[in-house]
Amino acid sequence: MADPRDTEGIDAGPGPRGPEDYAGRYLKDFREFDGDDVAESIIGGRVRATMPLPSRIQPHPRLVVPGDPGTVDAARAGLDGHPLILEVGSGLGRFINGLAAQRPDARLLGCETRLGFCVKALRRADREGHSHLFMAWGDARLTIPLVVPPGTADEAYLLYPDPWWKRKHARRRHGSLMATVLADALRPGGLMVLKSDVEPYLAQMLESFLQTGRYDAGNAPPELPNTDRELRLLRSGTNTFTAALIRR
Ligand SMILES: C[S@@+](CC[C@H](N)C(=O)[O-])C[C@H]1O[C@@H](n2cnc3c(N)ncnc32)[C@H](O)[C@@H]1O
Repeated sequence: MADPRDTEGIDAGPGPRGPEDYAGRYLKDFREFDGDDVAESIIGGRVRATMPLPSRIQPHPRLVVPGDPGTVDAARAGLDGHPLILEVGSGLGRFINGLAAQRPDARLLGCETRLGFCVKALRRADREGHSHLFMAWGDARLTIPLVVPPGTADEAYLLYPDPWWKRKHARRRHGSLMATVLADALRPGGLMVLKSDVEPYLAQMLESFLQTGRYDAGNAPPELPNTDRELRLLRSGTNTFTAALIRR
């Protein structure tokens, strides 16, 4: 996967750094914006939820297009009756395909705002024989409530989200709305895993999740597949941070 921060729509913030200058620089670069700046907005706007699939894109039987109710119904039916695993911000789908290989018993739903990434994640799933993996196009804060009945997901992953360095983009950071959407989707006892290379962002997300009063501290499974971003971070010797929660 190309560095997602080099691509359209992704904030080109500071790149991964070595451990020696990590702490000071990232703490300085990651600004704590005030409440109005970080109030979460839906990426692409709510209008995305009414949009059909652009004609240049081939429909896929496991691609959820929020504006096409048939695709929502197909995913709900396909995900039903099995352990359900969610991922927010799947990128090109390395992690969710890795998890699909580990969990043939489960059904997996990746949520991704970038349609091209959804398509590529599904192509990878087809190549690797993961017919139990679905992708939802759009902001997970809209697509998860549309597709996932409340209290039915067993696990959810939010891995290396963009830190959105600039004030004008801070509204795209994940906070209490994402925390609530995921708490609604998870069953009691369900697992929530958060990862970031930006420690203050992870701390901020964790605080938002705990402030809902719907999670307790938990432990992340030891053998999770890598994401694309994680692989790059590991190769460059950059620290990564993990937090796990259990839905009350
Ligand atoms: C920095 S990339 C990380 C991708 C992948 N998790 C990894 O670690 O390689 C973050 C991804 O999340 C997607 N994204 C950001 N906000 C989202 C949201 N609210 N709902 C769904 N996807 C989102 C972006 O389009 C991008 O592909």
